[in-house]
Amino acid sequence: MTKRLSIAAVVVVLVLAAGAYFLLGGAEPRGPEQPIAFPHPVHVVDNQMECTYCHYTAERAPGAGLPSTQLCVGCHVPGSGAIDPAQAQLGFPEGSEEAEKLVEYWRQGEAIPWVRVHNLPKHAHFPHDSHVTVGLECATCHGPVEEMDRVYQFSSLRMGWCMDCHRGGMELSEAEEARVQERSGYIRRIAAAADAGVDVRAEQMNFPHQRASVDCTVCHY
Ligand code: HEC
Ligand code: HEC
Ligand code: HEC
Ligand code: HEC
Ligand code: HEC
Repeated sequence: MTKRLSIAAVVVVLVLAAGAYFLLGGAEPRGPEQPIAFPHPVHVVDNQMECTYCHYTAERAPGAGLPSTQLCVGCHVPGSGAIDPAQAQLGFPEGSEEAEKLVEYWRQGEAIPWVRVHNLPKHAHFPHDSHVTVGLECATCHGPVEEMDRVYQFSSLRMGWCMDCHRGGMELSEAEEARVQERSGYIRRIAAAADAGVDVRAEQMNFPHQRASVDCTVCHY
């Protein structure tokens, strides 16, 4: 009797586990919970804001950067430039608990403690400026952020992923490919060397569509 019961228990556990696996496997990936449920879709899609309006160092520095509390408050608290933060009142949307949290951080003079989604190990360096000015789209690496309720890591960020694009294996959109062909310093260096009569066949033999350097020291230093 106990044996039959325990078999029944095992069966129930297996069925539940299979159900959980199915449900989780079919669910959308979700990033970590943030101190304020900041909605990218509302800002990017409904209000047509550019990614670089908030991540404004992406084009000119290694880090894309996160917006300051001040930048958020500039919209959400009318007259924020002139008033004492202690007196700050949420302008819109009225009655929003999440936007109210934003005002509370401002009143306290605190930075919003956003939880990092992407985290390369310290020994690897990723410069946003090189990638954005060469003409790559944010979405190529970050996916459809404008649809994410909670931002999640879309690409593996493994070394093989970086290499695959640098060597030309990863397919880009036609527009990106055209910009990269025109702007990549690596492609220009190879072309200039070939023009000057240098033999570049060894460079190009394995990866004829290479678009960026794969020297270890470029990413590790
Ligand atoms: C109104 C400001 C704003 C706009 C516009 C905006 N973002 Fe963000 N973004 C944030 C804030 C705040 C965070 C941190 C909270 C979070 O992860 O949701 C963030 C987080 C991110 C992260 C994760 C950062 C990490 O921790 O690793 C990525 C990637 C990102 N945004 C990409 C984009 C892209 C791509 C666009 C355009 C499609 C965009 N963002 C538009 C404010 C903005
Ligand atoms: C070629 C791939 C690639 C492109 C293109 C790219 N990113 Fe990133 N992004 C990354 C990687 C890799 C990281 C993680 C960097 C780290 O942890 O040091 C990252 C991190 C971030 C972060 C976290 C904060 C930071 O500075 O590390 C934000 C925000 C972000 N990206 C936004 C953007 C936006 C906005 C664009 C377009 C303007 C963009 N990214 C274009 C690969 C890319
Ligand atoms: C350029 C103006 C602008 C900036 C800058 C801005 N927002 Fe918004 N935000 C809006 C608009 C517009 C809405 C939609 C309001 C509505 O639905 O009535 C919104 C909606 C929100 C909401 C959703 C409220 C709800 O309950 O639906 C939150 C939370 C929020 N913003 C937080 C932030 C944070 C945090 C920042 C800074 C990272 C920020 N906003 C920067 C314009 C802005
Ligand atoms: C979608 C394609 C793509 C991905 C993914 C990508 N890169 Fe790049 N990367 C490029 C291109 C194109 C350039 C510009 C090359 C040039 O101008 O010489 C570049 C340039 C660089 C540079 C500057 C090289 C130099 O010679 O100054 C570094 C460093 C770099 N990438 C590191 C990384 C790392 C680290 C990753 C992964 C975390 C990564 N990249 C992922 C396409 C990519
Ligand atoms: C285009 C950028 C890029 C280039 C070029 C590159 N790496 Fe990396 N490498 C990374 C990134 C990003 C990571 C961290 C992610 C990971 O571990 O996959 C990494 C991780 C590593 C690690 C740690 C692996 C681990 O499991 O912890 C070693 C070792 C390494 N690289 C060695 C090298 C050597 C040797 C070269 C030259 C042949 C090289 N890398 C060239 C981007 C690069």
